[in-house]
Amino acid sequence: MTSTNPTAKDRVVIFDTTLRDGEQCPGATMTFEEKLAVADLLDTMGVDIIEAGYPAASNGDFEAVSEIARRMKNAVVAGLARTAQNDIDRAGEAVRNARRPRIHTFVSTSPVHMKYKLQKSPDEVLAMSIASVTRARNFVDDVEWSAEDGTRTEIDFLCRCVEAVIKAGATTVNIPDTVGYTTPDEYRALFRTVRERVPNSDKAVFSVHCHNDLGMAVANSLAGVEGGARQIECTINGIGERAGNAALEEVVMAMRVRADVYGYETGIDSTMLTRASKLVAAATSFPVQYNKAIVGRNAFAHESGIHQDGMLKHTQTYEIMEPQTVGVTKTSLVMGKHSGRAAFRSKLEEMGYRLSDNQLQDAFARFKDLADRKKVVYDEDIEALVDENIATAHDRVRLVSLTVIAGTRGPQRATLRLDIDGQKVTEEADGNGPVDAVFNAIKALVPHEAVLELYQVHAVTEGTDAQAEVSVRLSSDGRSVTSRGADPDTLVASAKAYLGALNKLIAGTSRMHAQHAAE
Ligand code: KIV
Ligand code: ZN
Repeated sequence: MTSTNPTAKDRVVIFDTTLRDGEQCPGATMTFEEKLAVADLLDTMGVDIIEAGYPAASNGDFEAVSEIARRMKNAVVAGLARTAQNDIDRAGEAVRNARRPRIHTFVSTSPVHMKYKLQKSPDEVLAMSIASVTRARNFVDDVEWSAEDGTRTEIDFLCRCVEAVIKAGATTVNIPDTVGYTTPDEYRALFRTVRERVPNSDKAVFSVHCHNDLGMAVANSLAGVEGGARQIECTINGIGERAGNAALEEVVMAMRVRADVYGYETGIDSTMLTRASKLVAAATSFPVQYNKAIVGRNAFAHESGIHQDGMLKHTQTYEIMEPQTVGVTKTSLVMGKHSGRAAFRSKLEEMGYRLSDNQLQDAFARFKDLADRKKVVYDEDIEALVDENIATAHDRVRLVSLTVIAGTRGPQRATLRLDIDGQKVTEEADGNGPVDAVFNAIKALVPHEAVLELYQVHAVTEGTDAQAEVSVRLSSDGRSVTSRGADPDTLVASAKAYLGALNKLIAGTSRMHAQHAAE
């Protein structure tokens, strides 16, 4: 096929906002350590800009952005800020130690947002935009300005704002489709118009930021690039506000697989996409839908006889990309209970993990424990184990042991032993079923008001000795958090998942106190 794009292989920069827009969606809260693990992976896989958070939102956000800024080796690190002076100053301070810092400031420009949300006139919004960009430039040379609800903004006003912020020093101009309302043709035309009409438009990079309310976020992002944008804002697994953002893995692979149509390239190492998807799913405990493009577990699975027959004859009959290009390797059998630490370390490296010595030690102990209980340990088992290891590294409440009496003759009874801030405590509780008994025992040891909103079980691999993976979502005081736990025993996995969510709530509020009598 011939290229339809005369400027073949233009570089498009990838701006990942998993840690900001992604983390903003209800239940996707990540701990400090989880954010660092995700940021490290994004940096290694070639993401150009990592939006690490919104520093003025909380001390936790500020600290996470500062630490990510300090450790990223390649990526630009951006902190989000409204136009308020304090927001800009906090963002400036948070990214101060980055090798390549950016402040991303935004304000609503659509009539409905300006009138009802901001209660400001267009002239006031214009003045706020100029002032925020000018202030941000006192901290950094790299300033991005976003016109929130840009796709529902009057074009004349949008052009006036864009011209003014570029004059004030904005180096990137983002026109988001905040409410996922636009269509590809409309969005492509919007970028063409703004770039043509704004006299200094050649002084800034234009950026797309699309939400997925009508399922068009990826198509719209690519259309915006055709209209002249050269930055795509996106998230791993497409997580984000409401229906989410454009999925990073999808925009990257669309440009790569259909390079004949798009003719753009990115700096992303696509073989790390599956790893990134799994890490973000584990950190946020948001499961990836099975049929999700690129990273869903069925994305390369062929079920029907006709398809399987075709695949056996030639893989290109039903596969438009090789699974290896996105990091899907054939499930391989790994070491058993006799495998040593060196083999385990090299297996982890092959799977894309880089663990500290302490993390490795902990993960190896868990692996040995699993290998004792499970006939074969697959890559997926190791992944679940290491991701859980990262997620629970700083938990205050830990599972020590669990025994459950279950069966047709009730009541079901759980005996649970926990380590709470280094003290071991035990409790017995009955329940309406074994899971209920386990959760009641946890509530007795760690009294709390959180409500269980979701309880889901699925298997990590096949077979009756497969590890069960349980997802639990708890909500308390308007915050909801999700966590996952994996174990060959479904009840142990349930306890781990529930405790994981409780730990996130405790870490987030410090208001929930473990009430227990130390033994
Ligand atoms: O969707 C949106 O408009 C945003 C801005 C803050 C860029 O997330
Ligand atoms: Zn957004």
